[in-house]
Amino acid sequence: MCGIIGILYRDKSVAKDLVTGLKLLEYRGYDSAGIATLSNGSILIEKDKGRIDELNVKLGFESMPGCVGIAHTRWATHGAPDKINAHPHTDCENRIAVVHNGIIDNYNEIKSELVRKGHIFKSLTDTEVVPHLIEEYIKNGYSFRDAVIEAVSRLEGAYALGIISTYEPGMIVGVKQLSPLVVGVSDEGMFIASDINSLSPFTKDVIVLDDGEVVFLTGDSYEIVRLPTRERVVKKVERIEIDTQFADKEGYVHYMLKEIFEQPVVLNYSIRVQEHYLNLMAELLDRSKEVFIIGAGTSYHAALLGSIILSRVARLTTIPVIASEFVSRYGDVVSVDSSVLAISQSGETIDVLKAIEFAKSRAATILGITNTLASTLTRVCRVYIHQHSLPEIGVAATKTFTGQLAVLYRLAMVTGKKRGKLSQREMDEMKVEIAKIPGVVKTVLDRVDQQVRALAKKYKDTRYFVFLGRGLSYPIALEGRLKMLEITYIPSLAYPAGESKHGPISLIEKGVPVVFVAPPDETRKLIIGNIEEMRARNATIITLGDEGDNELRELSDDFIPMPRVYPLFSPIPYVVPLQLFAYYTAVLLGRDPDKPRNLAKSVTVL
Ligand code: G6P
Repeated sequence: MCGIIGILYRDKSVAKDLVTGLKLLEYRGYDSAGIATLSNGSILIEKDKGRIDELNVKLGFESMPGCVGIAHTRWATHGAPDKINAHPHTDCENRIAVVHNGIIDNYNEIKSELVRKGHIFKSLTDTEVVPHLIEEYIKNGYSFRDAVIEAVSRLEGAYALGIISTYEPGMIVGVKQLSPLVVGVSDEGMFIASDINSLSPFTKDVIVLDDGEVVFLTGDSYEIVRLPTRERVVKKVERIEIDTQFADKEGYVHYMLKEIFEQPVVLNYSIRVQEHYLNLMAELLDRSKEVFIIGAGTSYHAALLGSIILSRVARLTTIPVIASEFVSRYGDVVSVDSSVLAISQSGETIDVLKAIEFAKSRAATILGITNTLASTLTRVCRVYIHQHSLPEIGVAATKTFTGQLAVLYRLAMVTGKKRGKLSQREMDEMKVEIAKIPGVVKTVLDRVDQQVRALAKKYKDTRYFVFLGRGLSYPIALEGRLKMLEITYIPSLAYPAGESKHGPISLIEKGVPVVFVAPPDETRKLIIGNIEEMRARNATIITLGDEGDNELRELSDDFIPMPRVYPLFSPIPYVVPLQLFAYYTAVLLGRDPDKPRNLAKSVTVL
């Protein structure tokens, strides 16, 4: 995780823009931050533990002088989140400063060697080996440029680096290996950053680096070299239109709340993704001997639901797998006849990218659904679909989850048609019904917001929550549980309701809140039995069910009435009250829902 940015202007200070970019990268980690600039032949550094806004006031980030600088926002891996371990890190003489996203696997070995040679290390990070190693090569007579190449050639692991130095004060070096890094070009100067969005206030013209590439930026030029051969690479500048329209809080207290309320609008975009790409993907899915759907976190829940939808609508068997488990679980069976459909909002989750890298090496077909244009995922897929949910800033995924589901529904419909499993009449009916979903979500938001707010007040002090659902609603129970625990820190469980009696029921005692996701589909009858089982043990029952379902209403201590919905599509509106429930509970407990403890939005370490 961690976010890095570097800016080199021909004739204006970079600090203010570094802070602007850094704030757009804060979703990647936010335990500490720092900036290094080059001014009058020296490197100036300000860094500490804390959020960027606080540090900006405390350390005066924005008033740091210099036309060249690098900056970092951290999610700690090696070394506690404190001032010493915050980036940038420097060499012994403070002539080289480095920011890093990723993990250097062989840092211990390099560090021991450098310590033996007399280098003094200040932090516990893996990153600090980089400036010292460059320094060592310089001591041995290499130019700064060659020293960087020699040093990074020795690094193993994942790293996106930004490097500045007093040896070449008019230069920023960027290095990409597994962690993302893009180059930006404008009339005023040059940029590197962990993502394109953070460059959007400055330029739309970018070059996406590939693994093993090192870029040397100067005021008006850039040169890219590919390791290990060190050949020069010519890459074209791409113009990427980033929609920044939704990047403000627009009056909402938190991004998460704004993003929950944005769903009716952006779901329309996801439902309308281009038929052409859906057809291509459906064709490839249909041809595969086996299909795996992978994802992490919320995207895994979409994968799970996608698998159910593809089975129901397209009669296609798919295997949903948590990305980090994919290789060890199914590596031996992946072949040229397999397809792997990766779901990743960011398109940068390393667990997903590693699984794909493996599948690619076995000649499998790689497909993707993502919310991030020009992300690594889009570059390794045979076909990808951009879900158009617009940027999501809150760490807990909300609108991108429902957007993923909308795309998966569309994909299942097109695949079902192609495989001859859906009649034209069924297809037409589904098209009409899915088009109503954004409106249904709007109704849910209008109707339940106040009620859910009150429920959050009522239940915020519970010791734990249990979420149960069957069929299509089980992934929704999982997602409700994930939202709740990740932003409120209240331990929570989710189970298929039928499985609850095989263990979780032992946790039930008087007053434990059990949330049932109970839409009016084929699971409703059985779920009534599960509710009765919990009632018999004095659990407190909170149910999401159809507004006209009086039986459910009567069995529940709190009933959240949901508008009538085509049963197949119930997961989209039914997850919305659970997103709000987690959000309001977190706020009442004094947590920051946009930046939950220890989490980051884009996880780029294994
Ligand atoms: C992190 C985030 C989650 C997200 C998951 C997968 O854990 O905190 O919100 O669901 O990564 O991210 P992706 O970008 O691959 O969907």
